[in-house]
Amino acid sequence: MNKIMLIAFTIGSTLCAGAADSGVANTPPMGWNSWNHFACKVTADDVRASADAIASNGMKDAGYVYVNIDDCWEGSRDEQGRIQPNQKFGDMKALVDYVHSKGLKIGIYSSPGPKTCAGYEGSYRHEEQDAQQYAEWGFDYLKYDWCSAEKVYQQSQMPDVYKKMHDALARTGRPIVFSLCQYGYDRVWRWGASVGGNLWRTTEDISDHYDRMSVIGFDQDGLESFAAPGHWNDPDMLEVGNGGMTDDEYRAHFSLWAIMAAPLIAGNDVRTMSPATRDILTNKEVIAVDQDSLGMQGMLVEEPGPDVQIWVKPLTDSARAVVLLNRSALQTAITAPWWALHIRGPARVRDLWAHTELGTFTDHFSATVPAHSVVMVRITRS
Ligand code: GLA
Repeated sequence: MNKIMLIAFTIGSTLCAGAADSGVANTPPMGWNSWNHFACKVTADDVRASADAIASNGMKDAGYVYVNIDDCWEGSRDEQGRIQPNQKFGDMKALVDYVHSKGLKIGIYSSPGPKTCAGYEGSYRHEEQDAQQYAEWGFDYLKYDWCSAEKVYQQSQMPDVYKKMHDALARTGRPIVFSLCQYGYDRVWRWGASVGGNLWRTTEDISDHYDRMSVIGFDQDGLESFAAPGHWNDPDMLEVGNGGMTDDEYRAHFSLWAIMAAPLIAGNDVRTMSPATRDILTNKEVIAVDQDSLGMQGMLVEEPGPDVQIWVKPLTDSARAVVLLNRSALQTAITAPWWALHIRGPARVRDLWAHTELGTFTDHFSATVPAHSVVMVRITRS
């Protein structure tokens, strides 16, 4: 990445930032979603208990706001065609009110197709009615998942299909975050914002394995010019705390998502977290990088060796967040030269995982990085 590209990137992002409209998702959305842990077993009680936990375990205080119900809440439609929750959910308005009473917001899930990915009722030919129903219940966020829409639409119709639901949501008059989920088909980052998407999935599903997480994470490089306040690339929800990775690997996962200005949607069982998981998910210094108001997605700037990468994200006040990433299975020393970070002269370096000032450095910074993990710093010119 040379300087000219960095400047082009900055200008591109600034222009996009001007397009932010509805006032929602001015920074990447933060919250929790039921899918990665509960999948189809989720119940209203699980959602209530998760909201209780988020409100009291430090997550709300760290910025997590949306409590999102994923697939498998849907029942059948009544005689007027209105969607009903299934028996696991019962009174949806009561659940929404409960989550709101905790000072949190709540999200729901549907598909533009006749069926959701798990085979429940979708919004096909009921878009207006469903949008009205979600608003009537009081929902604040909709994840709209392509799934069986492929059976009733051509892929080229995707933008129109998503715009249709966006317009229906807009007509409710309720601010509702619109989350596009179509796995990155048709380079959604090029048109997601124009159909009203506040975030768009850029990949197929994540899973709780280092290899899958890292393939997804590293694939995001190059999409940075499409992210801006109001419109974010979404490399899928977090797996932190679900048990399939080490804490070092989860720190890499969380740091990578933060440097990419990705939505931070936790996907673990927040009712019972280890202290290490809690510390990762509620690291306010790393979250501040993700949520920085400049709204720029970070990028890969150097690969100083095999399996070794340096990512950088410009922050307000000309500061830089930098992730030194070691993808190898051995502890490795990594050096970040100032020229690669576009920094000149002495700069202060703060370790965002150790929460310590490391000192002032004049032309580079080096650290020993554990296997499959990161050192993440904030660099501020002195
Ligand atoms: C798709 C989505 C997942 C989840 C499931 C639910 O696979 O990508 O995030 O919503 O559907 O069925």
